[in-house]
Amino acid sequence: MSATTYLNMDYIDKLKISEDGKNIIRNYDILVKKNLNRNLYLHSVNTLKYASMLSEKHNVDLKDHLRICIASILHDYGKSLDIDKQRKIVIKNIKEVKIKSGDMEIDALFHGFSGSFILREELSISDKKIIEAVRYHTTGKLNMNMVDKIVYISDKIEDDRQYEDIDYLREISLKNINLCLLEVYKNNIIYIIKRNKRFYSQTFNIWNNICRLYGGFLNGPGR
Ligand SMILES: [Fe+2]
Ligand SMILES: [Fe+2]
Repeated sequence: MSATTYLNMDYIDKLKISEDGKNIIRNYDILVKKNLNRNLYLHSVNTLKYASMLSEKHNVDLKDHLRICIASILHDYGKSLDIDKQRKIVIKNIKEVKIKSGDMEIDALFHGFSGSFILREELSISDKKIIEAVRYHTTGKLNMNMVDKIVYISDKIEDDRQYEDIDYLREISLKNINLCLLEVYKNNIIYIIKRNKRFYSQTFNIWNNICRLYGGFLNGPGR
């Protein structure tokens, strides 16, 4: 999205969701624009646009399509708070998240978890699929449903993202969402290793789960 369209909500008119759904997205657009910085706002809108396109491509039903739009525009809303406040929210709700003591040192983990509690407590969103798609958009989770998969993938390959292999990931996102999930998750693991960053404690289990379910495809780029 270019700077000239920063304040333009025309993209919402083009979504293939109900008029009520469009009004919900308009309100969240205003909220995100107000509370996140410009780049994060643009990334949130781009994630929604990519996720909506994938929802259409993969014939997602209207209810899940709206859930995907809501979760996408709000997926980074946890970043409206600084990292200490995010951490406090996670600690307050620790019984609901799979987190071990070592995970508490990985700052990047907190905004998805904390964001899901902000959605529930401040925005009164109770829909489990929306809450979980936001909660696990950074880490993934075991047995992801279509809402989880599309939000997870769209966050990583929306139109403004640029990195090696992204053209391949975008190409397969249109054809095979499960293969795409496997390749995007793999890409994320490689990214973490290359930068000597630490893994979330559940990453090994989530990767094994994705491999068991979708690892039968052998037509990847050969990594
Ligand atoms: Fe995020
Ligand atoms: Fe994001």
